Amino acid sequence: MALYKERGEPIRRLIRQTAAQTDRPFGINLIPEVSGHAAEREQLLAALSELPRSGFVTTSGLQDRDFADLVRRAQRCQVVQIGTPDDATAALEIGAGALVLQGSEAGGHHLGRIASRDLLSEVRTRHAQAVLAVAGGIATGIDLAAAIVAGADGAIAGTAFIPAHESRAHPDLKARVLSADADDTVITSASTSAGPTVGIGCFGTPRPRQAIANRLISSRRPWWKVVGYPCPGTAQRCPLLVLKADRSDG
Ligand SMILES: Cc1cc2nc3c(=O)[nH]c(=O)nc-3n(C[C@H](O)[C@H](O)[C@H](O)COP(=O)(O)O)c2cc1C
Repeated sequence: MALYKERGEPIRRLIRQTAAQTDRPFGINLIPEVSGHAAEREQLLAALSELPRSGFVTTSGLQDRDFADLVRRAQRCQVVQIGTPDDATAALEIGAGALVLQGSEAGGHHLGRIASRDLLSEVRTRHAQAVLAVAGGIATGIDLAAAIVAGADGAIAGTAFIPAHESRAHPDLKARVLSADADDTVITSASTSAGPTVGIGCFGTPRPRQAIANRLISSRRPWWKVVGYPCPGTAQRCPLLVLKADRSDG
């Protein structure tokens, strides 16, 4: 459950609603770099107050020690997504129970620059007993099987779920993802550089992301100056973002 910039009661309500619908374990997801330290702590405390015992806490990027201590004291598993071997080691040292190794094939913002296979090889060599999942370009059972043969314990997928019936992505984006092939994406910083300066907020460090190439990206103008990022506060503007990103030349 991506909590992104949600706070307090909405977080507690979302978790209660989810827990009422399933007995299976589910996790909440936070992005330390997006929330900032104080807000992230508040998000975490709200989540932990409702998260079932079987629930787990995931982060996109390295968690800090205070965060890790809170999760450990609450006896929930921490699943940390990282993009470099050093961050893998740091995450395990401060309490991660499992790692997601994000390779440069991944959709969305990137945590590193290494292909998932190389990252897996390095981290597996360093941490033979760690629970490791890979992320990046996983779309089929064959991809999952290949990851396991290469030494992973599992894999996660993101982009593959964008067109899913349950996904709230704009229909135009779903169609674009379905029609795209491997040559259609680029790794770009076009959408990350100006976040905080326009009050929408994103990653503290400009992080490259993988996106389907379009005229806006090619123009190298930051998306932030055109529309908001799809988060709860800008949810109604997501179709606009998609339209701008897919059709506008800025
Ligand atoms: C549209 C989109 C949004 C994402 N949002 C998040 C997020 O909120 N939190 C997170 O931990 N990872 C997020 N990710 C990254 C995924 O966790 C994962 O690294 C990535 O999707 C794996 O690569 P794939 O898209 O090729 O399957 C996002 C990815 C995409 C494509």
